[in-house]
Amino acid sequence: MRITFLLNGTAVSIEVEEPTRTLLDWLREERGLKGTKEGCNEGDCGACTVMVRAPGEARWRTVNACILFLPQLDGLAVRTIEGIAAPDGRLHPVQQAMIDHHASQCGFCTPGIVVSLAAAHANGERDFDNRLAGNLCRCTGYAPIIRAARAAAEAPVPDWLAEDFGALPRGAQEADEMAFIPESAEALAEWYLAHPDAMLVAGATDVGLWVTKKLRTLAPVAFIARIPELRGIEIGEHEVRIGAAVTVAEFHAAMADLHPGLAEMLRRYGSVQVRNAATVGGNIANGSPIGDSPPALIALGARLHLRRGEERREMPLEEFFVAYGRQDRRPGEFVEAVSFPRQPDRLRVYKLSKRFDQDISAVCGAFNITVENGRVSVARIAFGGMAEIPKRARAVEAALTGEPWTEETVEAALPAFAEDFTPISDMRASAGYRLAAARNMLRRCLLEDLGAPVNVLDVNVLEVTP
Ligand SMILES: Cc1cc2nc3c(=O)[nH]c(=O)nc-3n(C[C@H](O)[C@H](O)[C@H](O)COP(=O)(O)OP(=O)(O)OC[C@H]3O[C@@H](n4cnc5c(N)ncnc54)[C@H](O)[C@@H]3O)c2cc1C
Ligand code: FES
Ligand code: FES
Repeated sequence: MRITFLLNGTAVSIEVEEPTRTLLDWLREERGLKGTKEGCNEGDCGACTVMVRAPGEARWRTVNACILFLPQLDGLAVRTIEGIAAPDGRLHPVQQAMIDHHASQCGFCTPGIVVSLAAAHANGERDFDNRLAGNLCRCTGYAPIIRAARAAAEAPVPDWLAEDFGALPRGAQEADEMAFIPESAEALAEWYLAHPDAMLVAGATDVGLWVTKKLRTLAPVAFIARIPELRGIEIGEHEVRIGAAVTVAEFHAAMADLHPGLAEMLRRYGSVQVRNAATVGGNIANGSPIGDSPPALIALGARLHLRRGEERREMPLEEFFVAYGRQDRRPGEFVEAVSFPRQPDRLRVYKLSKRFDQDISAVCGAFNITVENGRVSVARIAFGGMAEIPKRARAVEAALTGEPWTEETVEAALPAFAEDFTPISDMRASAGYRLAAARNMLRRCLLEDLGAPVNVLDVNVLEVTP
């Protein structure tokens, strides 16, 4: 398949023979652009960070080139570290500030950090701790890096970055036997019905690792992340509908006002680079027992919308997860969207992981508890990391419903966790720890309602002083 994109301001058109070839490999091996580094090759360290922008998009998105397949670039503008300075060699303000503030020692992480900061600079983002959560520096330490970021923040965005509008001729893509980039949900539905064994790739934050770490060969592959009908976020009077290809970053932004507790949890989902690629549909369809969005969506009463050819069906999200590795999805069927009722916000979501940022949950609990006249009228509670699938805590819900929303009720409901869940011990947590943590999350939910400070950020403020 032929793809076209802007690479550091220059149009590039290439024939892709292997649809799961990563941008990182191609940059280093075919183009000799070795500034983009390979650290982990699994999306964790940010050494391979590049920034991309689609035509019409106002913001640059940082992504990890090690788990980005070439066809995902079709029609985009991409900037690598080699394209951050001006063509005549003038440094980007972030690069100059990194030098001025001694923010690089061995330099291995530096290209990724500069790209992350250049994107933040262009987008006007100042939450630097968050922006750099996916860029691991092992030797300099973050204080000088953050100082450099702050020092460059007020400088104007250089012209050469403002020029990349990526108005590229994309042309309709013909499917070949290896890969397809459908331009509409209709085209995907037809093709997938004819190729039910094919692999769908949305953000590739799971699939990428199957290639780079498990060395799997995947074909045929359909790249679905930019299908317009799968990209919508509709916030109606009665319902919220999120398209399957909406990224976690976009979902995060949409939830900021509606369900801030969910947005706060999503801020700790992977890193900026991961959230800019990962999709809501991928986080559901992968059937992971530790995916972070399913518990919150289940607690909100979400329904999953599936499509196979012209046939559509929907179901409560919890029913989609049948058993470990098994979902209620038929051959040729794909996720179109997830929807949930518009409702007053009562959602609390607690993610527990070994690291605060950029880590997979050991336990993720979502609580949607409505209290009327001091009593629990409706309780929808769901967990990730407590069972082989994301699962509702029905016995706990029953123990709370109709009871006064008090400490006594919460304590009386705690034994019900053992009826709902028999968690496993693994490298993230022991079974006993998981059960204790889930119970404590219910306590935390009540305490939060009572106005107690429960967020680690409220009780432990870590500030880097300039
Ligand atoms: C460094 C790193 C950190 C991570 N951190 C987290 C985290 O904190 N929390 C978390 O929950 N996850 C995390 N993940 C896992 C991953 O980001 C998520 O599972 C993500 O949502 C997957 O979405 P995707 O679009 O990248 O899916 P892909 O990798 O593109 O696809 C995943 C699976 O879903 C299928 N699929 C995708 N879209 C559809 C569709 N519309 N219909 C049918 N099937 C579909 C694919 O065929 C594939 O089987 C992390 C991953 C990495 C690499
Ligand atoms: S090499 Fe570590 S994120 Fe890509
Ligand atoms: S400068 Fe050495 S890893 Fe950051």
